[in-house]
Amino acid sequence: MRSLQWALAALIAAVSADSNLTEKSRNILPSTFKPPQVFRNTNLVRNINLDKSYPRETINVIVENIDAKAQSEYYIPFVAGDIARIGALEVRDKKDATTGPFAAEVVEIDPYSATEYYKITFPTPLAPKAQITLAISYYALSALTPKPSRLDSQNDKQYLHYAFSAYAPSAYATANQKTKLKLSTTDVPDAPILPSSLNSEGKTDPQKQGSTYTYGPYADVPAGATQDTHVRYEYTHPLPHSSLLERDVEISHWGGNAAFEERHWLSNRAATLKNQFSRVAYQQAAYYNPPSTALKELRYPLAIGSQDAYFIDDIGNVSTSRFRSNLREANLELKPRYPMFGGWNYSFKTGWNSDLSSVVRALKGKSDEFVLKVPFFEGPKLSEGMEYERAVVRVILPEGAKILTWDTTVPVISNTTSLHRTFMDTVGRTTLTLTSINLVDELRDRELIVTYEYPFSARFRKPVVITLGLFVVYIASYVIGNLDVRIGKKSKVA
Ligand SMILES: *[C@@H]1O[C@H](CO)[C@@H](O)[C@H](O)[C@H]1NC(C)=O
Ligand SMILES: *[C@@H]1O[C@H](CO)[C@@H](O)[C@H](O)[C@H]1NC(C)=O
Ligand SMILES: *[C@@H]1O[C@H](CO)[C@@H](O)[C@H](O)[C@H]1NC(C)=O
Ligand SMILES: *[C@@H]1O[C@H](CO)[C@@H](O)[C@H](O)[C@H]1NC(C)=O
Repeated sequence: MRSLQWALAALIAAVSADSNLTEKSRNILPSTFKPPQVFRNTNLVRNINLDKSYPRETINVIVENIDAKAQSEYYIPFVAGDIARIGALEVRDKKDATTGPFAAEVVEIDPYSATEYYKITFPTPLAPKAQITLAISYYALSALTPKPSRLDSQNDKQYLHYAFSAYAPSAYATANQKTKLKLSTTDVPDAPILPSSLNSEGKTDPQKQGSTYTYGPYADVPAGATQDTHVRYEYTHPLPHSSLLERDVEISHWGGNAAFEERHWLSNRAATLKNQFSRVAYQQAAYYNPPSTALKELRYPLAIGSQDAYFIDDIGNVSTSRFRSNLREANLELKPRYPMFGGWNYSFKTGWNSDLSSVVRALKGKSDEFVLKVPFFEGPKLSEGMEYERAVVRVILPEGAKILTWDTTVPVISNTTSLHRTFMDTVGRTTLTLTSINLVDELRDRELIVTYEYPFSARFRKPVVITLGLFVVYIASYVIGNLDVRIGKKSKVA
């Protein structure tokens, strides 16, 4: 509960948080709290990947227990404010593919602290002197900033600024480490040279190789130390950002159908245009299709067999969309009414139907229990990627159904079960609502599995209610039909 509240508070902080670009070495651990120094990182290699519209970091680190007792709690520090923009943080045992991700939660140490932590719990405590190799991965949202923030012309190149620490974030002393930064371009006007005294091999730091920059190796970096730096590089692509995604999956046993709807509130975080957008220049440029910061098309690969797709924005049905569905694919190609340049917003909804049998099956040997398996969310698949601040997913089950369990590997910050009443419903439909923050499109194929009980009696409630309803209407019309309503005569039922 505490971590949930904290996650919510962190989300609110994320909305107002501004990046702090103070570029100097400092120790970010507050004096008030220090995670117990029971571990030492013997070797650490970190990759920062900047080829998409959000940074992805992976850290492989060999961790040794230097305490006299077995230990299982490992902390990962982030600068306050940044933690609210970290998504899908996962820690695994690099050498044991059979264990899933370890439990990870944001912990509240001190609300005024400059550092916040993720606490990782190992499934089995690490014995004294023993080592474990951790694979840590996460995404950072709203972390790339166009610089300059405005473009003179809509066909100009865009440059992004990314601030980071050349030392990997760590709550423990690290004997040896390096960071590799991967770009998709060699057009890099700014990547400051750090003092070569930091580099344990005395080399120029960073070392450049094609579009990869290597920071370090660095020896004996103390716990919590940072070495601020930045990079500015060409990236003439949109920065698609979703402030909210609402997704409904509505199950009808009676109709044999699963109906999907996604409502998106999108914006483009790319550089804005100094001058008014020119459709003529845009159409001229479209002829030779140069890189552009405008978002022009949203491709939605859907499950094979999806049907009846629609695409509606604030104005109405968008007729420039295409839906191709055949035995091998189902692809929705959505073209917004106008190319979405930096700073522009676009909201729309799209939906489709699927055969119930492709997403729901009866549990073996139990005639009343079913399992639903659907993607947690779908959304467009874009080469530059897309980030989601918040996603609210609702699974609307038939009336009388009871949720038994649900499971997903997408981190969920809140779950509720309620009743959703629509036309012709008697008691209301059982609805599971899951909220998740800081997602990226790379998670779009992760599944949501819901098992539920749907007794035989409930399954026939709707046909019975409708039959009874029709019967009442029939009786009523019979009675009314036989009423004598002529004026001046006493009415009587025949
Ligand atoms: C940046 O960080 C420094 C030191 O932690 C702090 O004093 C300053 O207020 C921060 N600036 C912003 C804009 O958050
Ligand atoms: C909406 O536009 C599509 C074209 O993409 C068209 O096939 C469909 O009939 C339109 N629907 C309505 C209700 O106008
Ligand atoms: C886009 O939406 C955000 C909030 O989601 C709002 O603050 C901003 O003013 C909108 N921009 C435009 C151009 O409407
Ligand atoms: C669902 O929410 C309740 C609190 O409302 C919480 O106790 C429970 O752990 C949550 N379940 C999952 C699987 O997150």
